[in-house]
Amino acid sequence: MVYFIAAIAALTGFLFGFDEGIMSGVLKNIKEEFSLTDSQVGITMGVLPFGALLSAFVTGRIADWIGRRPVLFSVPIIFSVGILLICSGWISYEVLCIARFLLGISIGISVVIGPLYIAETAPENSRGKLVTCFQLAITLGIFFSYALNLINASLVTQLSWRWMFAAGLIPSTLIFIGAFFLPESPRWLCSKKKHKEAEVVLQQLHSKSQASKALKEIEFTIKKEKKTSLWKALFTKQIRPVLALGILLFFFQQLSGINVIIYYAPIIFQKMQLGSHLVTLLATVGIGAVNVLATFIAIRFVEKIGRRTLFIWGFAGTAASLLLIAIMTYLDIPELRWVSAAALFAYIIAFAASIGPLPWVMMPEIFPLNVRGQGSSLSAGSNWVFNTLVVASFPILLHNWGISLTFAFYAIACFAGLLFVLRYLPETKQLSLEKIEAHVRSKKPFRLLGRD
Ligand code: BGC
Repeated sequence: MVYFIAAIAALTGFLFGFDEGIMSGVLKNIKEEFSLTDSQVGITMGVLPFGALLSAFVTGRIADWIGRRPVLFSVPIIFSVGILLICSGWISYEVLCIARFLLGISIGISVVIGPLYIAETAPENSRGKLVTCFQLAITLGIFFSYALNLINASLVTQLSWRWMFAAGLIPSTLIFIGAFFLPESPRWLCSKKKHKEAEVVLQQLHSKSQASKALKEIEFTIKKEKKTSLWKALFTKQIRPVLALGILLFFFQQLSGINVIIYYAPIIFQKMQLGSHLVTLLATVGIGAVNVLATFIAIRFVEKIGRRTLFIWGFAGTAASLLLIAIMTYLDIPELRWVSAAALFAYIIAFAASIGPLPWVMMPEIFPLNVRGQGSSLSAGSNWVFNTLVVASFPILLHNWGISLTFAFYAIACFAGLLFVLRYLPETKQLSLEKIEAHVRSKKPFRLLGRD
C-alpha cells in the first residue's frame, strides 16, 4: 500500500516535469500558428508559473481544511481540463493562455500535495526514499517531453503540437484512477479527531503493533499543539527557522542554475560549439536521461548517509563542475570543448543525486502538523518565484556577462549553498515526523536536530 500511495502521488511530479520540458519543443509551432508577438510569447510562457505560484500558496490551507486526498484528486482533473482545452479545435491565443494557466494551477497544487501526502503516509525508515520518487517523476516528465521534442524535430512531417500536449493525458488519467484507491492521510485524520479512521489507515500502512505505536505518537503530538491562528503559529520563534529553511532550500536549489540548463540546454550546447543542431538536441535528451538515472543515487543513499551528507556532496559537486565550465568556456580551447560538455553532465549528476530531490524530501518533514500544509505551500511557492527569477534573468546575464561569468555566478551560488547546509541543515533521516516536531517545539536550536 505504501508503495502504491507513493507511486500515485509521485506521478503528479511527472506532470510538472512534462510541462517544464514540452514548451521548448512546441513553442515554435505555436508561435507560427497564432502569429504571436514576442510579448504574447512571454505571456504564454509566464501564465504557467504564475498559476503555479498562486495555487501553491493556497494549497496547504485547502489541504488542511478538506484533506489531502481530495486535493490530490483535483490535480489530474484541472490538468486534464487544461490539456483538453489546448487540444480542442477552437483554441485561440486567449484560450491557450487560460489552458496554460490551468496547467500551472494543477502543477502548483501537485508540488505541495505530492511530497506532503507521501511524507505523511510513509514509514520513517523509507520516507526519504519514497518522497525522492516525486523528484524521480519530475525528471521522467522532463525526459519524456525532451524525447517527444526530439522525435518531433526529426520527423519529416511534424506531429501536431496538440498531440504532443495530449500525451500528458496518460499520466493524469493514471493519477485520477489511482486516487480512487488511496486512503486519507492518517495524520490529517487525527488532526480532525477522526481517530478510528486514522487507526484503520495506519493498519494498512504498518504492522498492527507499529500502527498503534504510531497512532499514540500522533495523538500525543496533536494534544501538545497550541490552538493559535495559522499565521501566528507560522511565525512563532520556534517555527521561524523552520520556515526559513524550507524557503532557503528552494532558493539555493534554483540559484544553482538547474533550470537554465533544463530550459536552455540546446542554446548552451550551441554556445559551447559542440556541433550540429541534431547533436545539440541529442545532447539535451542525454541531459534528461542522466537527470533521471542520477536520481536513483539519491534513492539509494538518502536513508543511508542522510540528507546532510548528500546535500554537502551535491553542492560541492555542482560548484566544482560549474567552475570548470566557467574556466573552460573562458579559455575556449577547441580540442577541449568536450570538457565543458562533460562538466555539464557532472553537474546534472551532482544536482539530481542531491539538490534536486532533497528540498522536496525535507519540506514536509520539518514542519509540525498544524503548520505543515501552509509551511509547505510557502516553501513550494517560493520554488516558483526563484525559478522564474533565475530563468528570466539568464538571457540578460548571458548577454551582458557572457557564458563564463554567468556560470561562475551559479558556481558561487552553489558554494554559498554548501556553506549554508554545513552550518544550518539538520538531519531528519530515520526520525518520525512526531520526533522532528518534538525537537522543533523544544528550546533547542533547530539546526542541531539529528546531528550528534
Ligand atoms: C526542481 C525543478 C527542476 C527539476 C530538474 C526539481 O527539483 O524544483 O525546478 O526543473 O528538479 O530535475
